Amino acid sequence: MKRIFSTVALALIAMGASMGLARAAEDCASCHQEKNPGLYQQWKNSKHGEQGVGCIDCHQADKKDVDAFEHYGATIATLVTPKDCAKCHEKEAEQAMKSYHASAGEILDSADAYLAHVAGGQPVAIAGCENCHGGKVKIDPNEPNKLSKKTWPNSGIGRINPDGSKGSCNACHSRHSFSVEQARQPENCGKCHLGPDHPQKEIYEESKHGIAYFGNKDKMNLKSKTWVVGQDYYAAPTCSTCHMSATKNQAMTHDVGDRISWTLRPPISKHKDNWQGKRGSMQEVCLNCHQQAFVDGHYYQYDAMVELYNEKFAKPATAIMDMIKKKGLMEHKASFANSVEWEYWELWHHEGRRARMGAAMMGPDYTWWHGIYDVAHNFYFKLIPEARSYNDAEINAYIDNLLKNDPMHTWLDKPTAELKAAIKSGELQKVYQGMFNKSK
Ligand code: HEC
Ligand code: HEC
Ligand code: HEC
Ligand code: HEC
Ligand code: HEC
Ligand code: HEC
Ligand code: HEC
Ligand code: HEC
Repeated sequence: MKRIFSTVALALIAMGASMGLARAAEDCASCHQEKNPGLYQQWKNSKHGEQGVGCIDCHQADKKDVDAFEHYGATIATLVTPKDCAKCHEKEAEQAMKSYHASAGEILDSADAYLAHVAGGQPVAIAGCENCHGGKVKIDPNEPNKLSKKTWPNSGIGRINPDGSKGSCNACHSRHSFSVEQARQPENCGKCHLGPDHPQKEIYEESKHGIAYFGNKDKMNLKSKTWVVGQDYYAAPTCSTCHMSATKNQAMTHDVGDRISWTLRPPISKHKDNWQGKRGSMQEVCLNCHQQAFVDGHYYQYDAMVELYNEKFAKPATAIMDMIKKKGLMEHKASFANSVEWEYWELWHHEGRRARMGAAMMGPDYTWWHGIYDVAHNFYFKLIPEARSYNDAEINAYIDNLLKNDPMHTWLDKPTAELKAAIKSGELQKVYQGMFNKSK
């Protein structure tokens, strides 16, 4: 952190005094103490309040800023963007602004956004999508310098701010306490990382890590100034431990992608750039509590799960959908106006993500019952029958070949007793052996 705030404050006071504005800057807090006693207490009892970082230090604006307004003798803005925090927290702001989080507001071109706008409508894109991802904050055309009600309040993680910066630090650091204690807890990420398409919070809660955390929260030393795993605490890892916090060899990072090797979001998972390096950084966290062999075992099983989902379901489902689209077989012209599109969407966007994310973060129920179980049900009993209903020779031939010749799918036409015997003898498991080898 850059400790320049006192200089900033002094300069402001000097500037204010010379312009006869000293009163306003000093009075921000006392006037608002009366008006918003809750807000005032949050600030007063925070690290900022304790260390004399005042209202004006964050809300100060330049007359040129589109959202600046005159307020009892001072020029301020209501929005406090990463650029404003960067005056004192340069490193954190730089990392946050280059992370994947910062681009989360750029979703308008996505299939998700199209779906929300056509099947839903604009209010749901604003109150739903944009409250997690971040919207573009605009100025009210009728009230210059006031924020448009359609676009604010918003504290989405990739909010597009009028000053050109991206993100919103108070997505994770609730104002006006800005407490790290709160930011370190899993509930903090859980505002956005939950639900049918990315249930990280639920997976964490069912995992041994979540159990150890909730059972030992009082031993987590959450208030500590430094929070180095294995030194300041040891009972359990939280989201922050694995994705952001410091270890004895790694500094804390505000770029949440730094330790991730696969991307589990797209229909077919891919490795990220420099994935081995990123995987190494994550493993270095694990090794504070586990042995290398144990951690290798986890990744071995996780990789095989990603391969299983990719090879058995995602690739053929995608090939079938591509044929349907290319041949123009669907009844309705618009995307998402046909049930087969919703089935394919749920297969990868909901069910398939749950399976992969469950395996990544040790949540067995999400890996199978909310995961591959749903994928298999959808694939065999919704997507394939729907695809066959088009009576297209090429598509039918593709499906016939898959189900008759691909050893992962031939079970459908075999007698149960034969399959049970093949499971017992290990014969059926051999079909999947390549996945373990490939991923090793
Ligand atoms: C004399 C009392 C008083 C003083 C001094 C004062 N405020 Fe306010 N503030 C208010 C009132 C009343 C409102 C409600 C909106 C309005 O009347 O502008 C408000 C609103 C605000 C808002 C929200 C504005 C919006 O429309 O979103 C912010 C941010 C704010 N004040 C910050 C500050 C800061 C920073 C200072 C110190 C430079 C300050 N206030 C000084 C009384 C005060
Ligand atoms: C550490 C920086 C920081 C300090 C110090 C700070 N604020 Fe804020 N304030 C913020 C942030 C961040 C927001 C959220 C605005 C946004 O959406 O970008 C905010 C929002 C607000 C709002 C509008 C939102 C609401 O809940 O009504 C008011 C009013 C406000 N601050 C007043 C104050 C006052 C008064 C003080 C001093 C007692 C103060 N702030 C001190 C960062 C700060
Ligand atoms: C004028 C300088 C200044 C500005 C602007 C500022 N901070 Fe701070 N911040 C500080 C200081 C000083 C501390 C206390 C550091 C310490 O205790 O070592 C602090 C501490 C923090 C902490 C740690 C709190 C804790 O519980 O330990 C967080 C989180 C934080 N700031 C976030 C923000 C965010 C987000 C913004 C913008 C909305 C912001 N700060 C704006 C100076 C500033
Ligand atoms: C994805 C959630 C998230 C976002 C967004 C976020 N932070 Fe943090 N931040 C955290 C967590 C978690 C910690 C505590 C990590 C730890 O101590 O292990 C933290 C810690 C901090 C600290 C204390 C650092 C220290 O060395 O004690 C500061 C300062 C801070 N953040 C500033 C910011 C600023 C500025 C922004 C916006 C540019 C921001 N944060 C955005 C989650 C976030
Ligand atoms: C509850 C918060 C939340 C809501 C509401 C939400 N999302 Fe998301 N979205 C997320 C999170 C979290 C991720 C990232 C999950 C991951 O990486 O595992 C994500 C991922 C995405 C992605 C994938 C990005 C990529 O690069 O692969 C797109 C596109 C997207 N969301 C668009 C939308 C749209 C459009 C809406 C509204 C229809 C929406 N989201 C609603 C939280 C949300
Ligand atoms: C306000 C909503 C929100 C909060 C809070 C939030 N995230 Fe995210 N996160 C998202 C969205 C949205 C995405 C997907 C980004 C995109 O579509 O560009 C995402 C993506 C991610 C990714 C994937 C990064 C990558 O490079 O692939 C990780 C990891 C992540 N978040 C971890 C966290 C952690 C850990 C926390 C809490 C400390 C957290 N997030 C808090 C909304 C949020
Ligand atoms: C024990 C460490 C650990 C904990 C605790 C943990 N994660 Fe993860 N997380 C991982 C690992 C390992 C992966 C997979 C990394 C890879 O692919 O290399 C992952 C992957 C992710 C992804 C990427 C998903 C994608 O779409 O590509 C997100 C987002 C995420 N975690 C968020 C969270 C959130 C939010 C929490 C808390 C509710 C959390 N994690 C708790 C270790 C952890
Ligand atoms: C702060 C310590 C800590 C860190 C860091 C940590 N774990 Fe754990 N892990 C635990 C504890 C405690 C358990 C529960 C042991 C038990 O119940 O016997 C556990 C259990 C597990 C299990 C067993 C799951 C089960 O259901 O049996 C796996 C696998 C695992 N961890 C992998 C990892 C991986 C991979 C990482 C790094 C991405 C990691 N852990 C990081 C403490 C940690």
